[in-house]
Amino acid sequence: MTTEELRALDRSALWHPFTQQQGWAAEDAPIVERAEGAWLHDTDGRAYLDGTSALWCNVHGHRHPAIDAAVRAQLDRVAHTTMLGLSHPPAIALAEALLAIAPRGEGRAPLSRVFYSDNGSTANEIALKMAFQWHRIQEPDGRRTKFVYLDMSYHGDTIGSVSVGGIDLFHTMFRPLLFDGIRVAAGDVEGLERVLRDHGDEIAALIMEPLVQGAAGMLLHPDGYLRAVRELCDAYNVLMVVDEVATGFGRTGTMFACEREGVVPDLMSVAKGLTGGYLPLAATLTTERVYEGFLGRFEEFRTFFHGHTYTGNPLACAAALATLRVFEDEDTLAALQPKIALLAELLEASIAPLETVAEIRRRGVMVGIQLTDFPLEARMGHQVTLAARERGAIVRPLGDVVVLMPPLSIAEDELRQLVAITAEAIAAATGAGTPRAPAAVAPVV
Ligand SMILES: Cc1ncc(COP(=O)(O)O)c(C=O)c1O
Repeated sequence: MTTEELRALDRSALWHPFTQQQGWAAEDAPIVERAEGAWLHDTDGRAYLDGTSALWCNVHGHRHPAIDAAVRAQLDRVAHTTMLGLSHPPAIALAEALLAIAPRGEGRAPLSRVFYSDNGSTANEIALKMAFQWHRIQEPDGRRTKFVYLDMSYHGDTIGSVSVGGIDLFHTMFRPLLFDGIRVAAGDVEGLERVLRDHGDEIAALIMEPLVQGAAGMLLHPDGYLRAVRELCDAYNVLMVVDEVATGFGRTGTMFACEREGVVPDLMSVAKGLTGGYLPLAATLTTERVYEGFLGRFEEFRTFFHGHTYTGNPLACAAALATLRVFEDEDTLAALQPKIALLAELLEASIAPLETVAEIRRRGVMVGIQLTDFPLEARMGHQVTLAARERGAIVRPLGDVVVLMPPLSIAEDELRQLVAITAEAIAAATGAGTPRAPAAVAPVV
């Protein structure tokens, strides 16, 4: 099929996620037919730097030979079976590998159990249900039915994860369908303590993104906040769910963001980068304390009645195992540190001085470039991404925040190119000709 035929069919048959379809037809979005490393190639033969890591999940680059080979080898064995009543080698090996790299903390029981699913939303949904049921088993008549979540949080699009979502644009529409929660301001330790003091015995769990609230536009938490939340959850017997779906697998510079503050959550969800961005797979990790709460004779009905058809898919587990091996073989996290430093310099030098950039927020390779105020209907973040596309880079906006999140494997010259294109795109779309005193760059590592 030609590109035009594909486009026509896309417009007549598809409905794209998070997309106002009314404008879609006018945009001639690239149709990606292959990719290599940090580059996407479309059906017209144009190449684009993948500045969003295929929606924050590609880690070691597209078509990494070791991950390609692992998926192919698994295809020769079995593509899919079930985790309900059966097991398989890649799921078992991956559980061991994941637990070996999970965050640790002094004097704290480690995460020791892995429950698979297939996307970030379900991994969080599972964490919430586990927390709820765990309290229920302990205190059948207890009142712990609520969840605490942060303002501007994002944990996915299923109804459970929307219930603990704090981004009104995405979540308000569905309020009548959602379960009860208590929203607290991110970074406000005293406010959280007040809520726990007043409502502690009604709360099953607190859920949060660690260090960076990604979908909110890369909002950064103050140092020490994650640790303080851990201590408060302990004090009030509230389970702590940490959503590492976006931050996990190196994005903030360490394997997991929790490591920065020595925090071990009671439940931790991972997805996105778990398979290197190859296949849908997610996992909810928890401790022996939570796991053992569910043990009992069948007729006691402590079983966790939850599972998806593609939970722990063998091809996806093989891709994930290969992804974790590449972290070791290529010493990915060590190789990432100079790139993080370079990224910081490049942002400071070429994006911060633009007069239409209000603030740059960054942690590791997670970057949010906040534009100055533009009317909503100007869709300025979106205009910037269209201008970047014309110049050979795919970046995505979150409102008027331009997000950069390249694969960890991006080369330094590609990083230079990505930031240069983004700077040009912002200047072109927003009309920011004159550099002025640099915009605030949040001081983080
Ligand atoms: C922190 C966080 N949690 C959960 C999700 C949802 O993951 P998925 O899109 O795989 O359901 C996302 C997706 O961006 C995320 O950033």
